[in-house]
Amino acid sequence: MKIVKTIDEVRRQVKEWKSQGLSVGLVPTMGYLHEGHASLIDASHRDNDRTVVSDFVNPMQFGPTEDLESYPRDIERDAALVEEHGGDIIFNPEPSEMYHEGFSSFVDMDVLTKELCGLSRPVHFRGVCTVVSKLFNIVQPDRAYFGKKDAQQLAVIRHMVDDLNMDIEIIGCPIVREEDGLAKSSRNTYLNAEERKAALVLSQAINIGIGMVRNGENDCAAITDAMKRHISAEPLAKIDYVKIVDLATMQQIPVIDRPALCAIAVYIGSTRLIDNFFTEDI
Ligand code: PAF
Repeated sequence: MKIVKTIDEVRRQVKEWKSQGLSVGLVPTMGYLHEGHASLIDASHRDNDRTVVSDFVNPMQFGPTEDLESYPRDIERDAALVEEHGGDIIFNPEPSEMYHEGFSSFVDMDVLTKELCGLSRPVHFRGVCTVVSKLFNIVQPDRAYFGKKDAQQLAVIRHMVDDLNMDIEIIGCPIVREEDGLAKSSRNTYLNAEERKAALVLSQAINIGIGMVRNGENDCAAITDAMKRHISAEPLAKIDYVKIVDLATMQQIPVIDRPALCAIAVYIGSTRLIDNFFTEDI
């Protein structure tokens, strides 16, 4: 397993693999890897002959008041995890390698990105689409792996790949949780002990929603109201959104009468956390 810093070097290695007829999986990450990322690497290792893990905190997807500077980074620890899970390369470029001086081409999307996280993070998905397109062009993988925790991101990337005829299979992998239910996230490291306890309201609310859908409730307001009530009872929690949307369009729906996503974003102190469930997974 090696850490590669330049685009040329990744390209050389992938070309060599492809000339030997080997398939290549890509796991795009921003590093500070946890078991959620490990499950993506495992899936890629299972499906492909070789796996590239990109490890790049992408400045373009952070708004001016967001946590770009404080986002946790630890490439040595990441390298050990990638090696343990069968990854072959970590691509860990400097921002200047990805965005040269005068960089001015972007991939943006009109639909899907204006709802949910797009409302409070207006530049986020343009940054994600641009960097993921660049990573796809650099690595040219057969398959790419994304976590379902970032459900809107997964939908946006699937849509982009379809719109732009990218010949890459997108694989969505299940949310990985801590034992007490909190969805794994690099941002969980921001939580102090009190906030860590309070953060459980997210997965508890998700379980309330899942329980209601299982019991046959399909009125979205009834479900989201019950979830909001639970979250609001926690003094450290501040709701950004709790919504049920059409999985294909990310538009809110009144009744669950099609494949839908129930997605939540909640501030615990100053840390913004997300969680969700897909009705088709219930
Ligand atoms: O999900 C993430 O970690 C990032 O948004 C991604 C897909 C690696 C793009 O920077």
